Amino acid sequence: MTSAPDYTEKIPNNVDLRDDRRLQRALESWQPNFLNWWESMGPTLPTQDVYLRTAVNVGREGWAHFGHVPMKDYRWGIFLAERNAERQIAFGQHKGEPAWQKVPGEYRADLQRLIVIQGDTEPASVEQQRNLGATAPSLYDLRNLFQVNVEEGRHLWAMVYLLHAYFGREGREEAEDLLNRNSGSEESPRILGAFNEETPDWLSFFMFTYFTDRDGKYQLGTLKESAFDPLSRTCEFMLKEEAHHMMVGTTGIDRVVERTAQLMVENETDDAGPLGGVPLTVIQKYLNFHYSVSLDLFGGETSTNVANYYTAGLKGRWLEERRKDDHRLTDDAYLVDALVEGEIGQTEVAALVGLNTDLRREYISDCQTGVTRWNRILDGAGLPHRLKLPHVAFNRRVGAFASVEVSPDGELLTPGEWAAQKGRWLPTDVDKTHVRSLMQPVRERGKIAAWIAPPRNGINGQPFDYDYVHLA
Ligand SMILES: [Fe+2]
Ligand SMILES: [Fe+2]
Repeated sequence: MTSAPDYTEKIPNNVDLRDDRRLQRALESWQPNFLNWWESMGPTLPTQDVYLRTAVNVGREGWAHFGHVPMKDYRWGIFLAERNAERQIAFGQHKGEPAWQKVPGEYRADLQRLIVIQGDTEPASVEQQRNLGATAPSLYDLRNLFQVNVEEGRHLWAMVYLLHAYFGREGREEAEDLLNRNSGSEESPRILGAFNEETPDWLSFFMFTYFTDRDGKYQLGTLKESAFDPLSRTCEFMLKEEAHHMMVGTTGIDRVVERTAQLMVENETDDAGPLGGVPLTVIQKYLNFHYSVSLDLFGGETSTNVANYYTAGLKGRWLEERRKDDHRLTDDAYLVDALVEGEIGQTEVAALVGLNTDLRREYISDCQTGVTRWNRILDGAGLPHRLKLPHVAFNRRVGAFASVEVSPDGELLTPGEWAAQKGRWLPTDVDKTHVRSLMQPVRERGKIAAWIAPPRNGINGQPFDYDYVHLA
């Protein structure tokens, strides 16, 4: 069972860490390594303190506390959602059996792998975002960046807790390695491609938190269904924090689109670039890039590994319990995207093998809600321009379309056609240089950079001009 979190402990937690001295000592010996990693790979902008949310409980009400804290003193803790003692496995061959409180031997390697892959993404994004503080468009945005960073650090703690508590020496070694791999490193890169890409500017940051953190939401959603109850409860709580990260992305892009639209209307032009804004065409290219690399994170259209994970009960579907089928899927078929005789089409496969596609489609329809919202802003400004999600086969490096080049409209291209046109669809060096030239930091309370509109609301009921960050 969970208990009240104990903040007198070195490691705040609601898992009764003090009753398990061995585990407590193991985690306390990992802690200095984590702090070293944070100091050397975390945010580079020096600050005195930041107005941050700290998780202090897991209940429905009042799970978070807000206050100014020096970032290095942030209380990274271990929090699992409340345990439901009656919980049963919702899918796969063990459907209806009690959820597991220990790792079954036969699934140990697979579960460990799933936890390591999830865990690897958490510190990766902190590394990708480490230099953004230098160019924040406002103190409000700076604070949000740091909030995302400390919570990704806490998500790393969440995964490391599971590795230490349930996977013995191998788990402890994997926990070390999570600090040894680094985003973009030649020798020891992060596991997944999108987490080795740079996040060099704030438009990329907002796109990342919209599209790539949203991939995280869907991955956590499938792990929340896991028969392994501690993993399920960890992910359930992480999802709560993740919602803020996506809010940062959604409203960040809202504000860029709003400002661009305003510049276009006021100056009766299609190009906000010379006016100090991000041109709509560049917003579209960034969207194309971040969306397509995030689609790759869902893996191949078909996967026997994922079929096995499902059957074993390790990883479920998005909102598994709301699905109206037998939750075993052994006799079902599913249509997945595929190259059919060289053309973009679909092919029927066993439903279990198509689960990556199922999850990717849930994600795609969620992404569409953002595009609809940004188009409403354009519409409200009286502009006919619209943003759109590119075709699922566009710019893919993983899965059925990795071997072909496809336009955003879904047209197959020769390598020559792709090379000649890709600068119209993906950010070019000129685009990136322009975006970077706009990234002049604004550090005065209540002020905002010229390329982005101010937010409608502050954080935790505070106004936009609140002193969210005290710089060093
Ligand atoms: Fe995370
Ligand atoms: Fe996140």
